Amino acid sequence: MDRRTFLSWVGVGTLASSLPMVIAACTSSETTETSSSTETDSAASSPPATTADGFTEVGKLADLEGNGSVIQEDFAGAPLLVIFNPDDKTQVVAFKNQCTHNQCPVDWNAESGTLDCPCHGSKYKADGTVTNGPAKEPLPTYEAKIEGDAILVKAG
Ligand code: FES
Repeated sequence: MDRRTFLSWVGVGTLASSLPMVIAACTSSETTETSSSTETDSAASSPPATTADGFTEVGKLADLEGNGSVIQEDFAGAPLLVIFNPDDKTQVVAFKNQCTHNQCPVDWNAESGTLDCPCHGSKYKADGTVTNGPAKEPLPTYEAKIEGDAILVKAG
């Protein structure tokens, strides 16, 4: 093998061995672009930010009037249920929507005025206190209010 042939083989070998790194670099760049566009998309559809006083908008009054309750799958790490206060319909009551017996989500029963757990039959009053077991602890509540057409709830 003469010098020229040797050098051309070394050149081809170097190019071939660096090809996977070039492909990986291009793939990595595309992944970064995809994730940044996903972040932009999710930011556009994310819920309204928390206000300075710690309240977050969780729904609209029209939804509560139409459905009888507003439910969020994740509020401060747990499901959320908001209902009108049956004693004062200008106020709302917000609950961590996990039965204290075994974490099943409860349903608002407007007819009986109770929050009913479908799993083992526990019932709670509209202030969260237990009326029927097996649950023993009250349903945790959050501070909640209405501002304009928005329902605001404060975590923690
Ligand atoms: Fe609600 Fe058991 S989980 S009564």
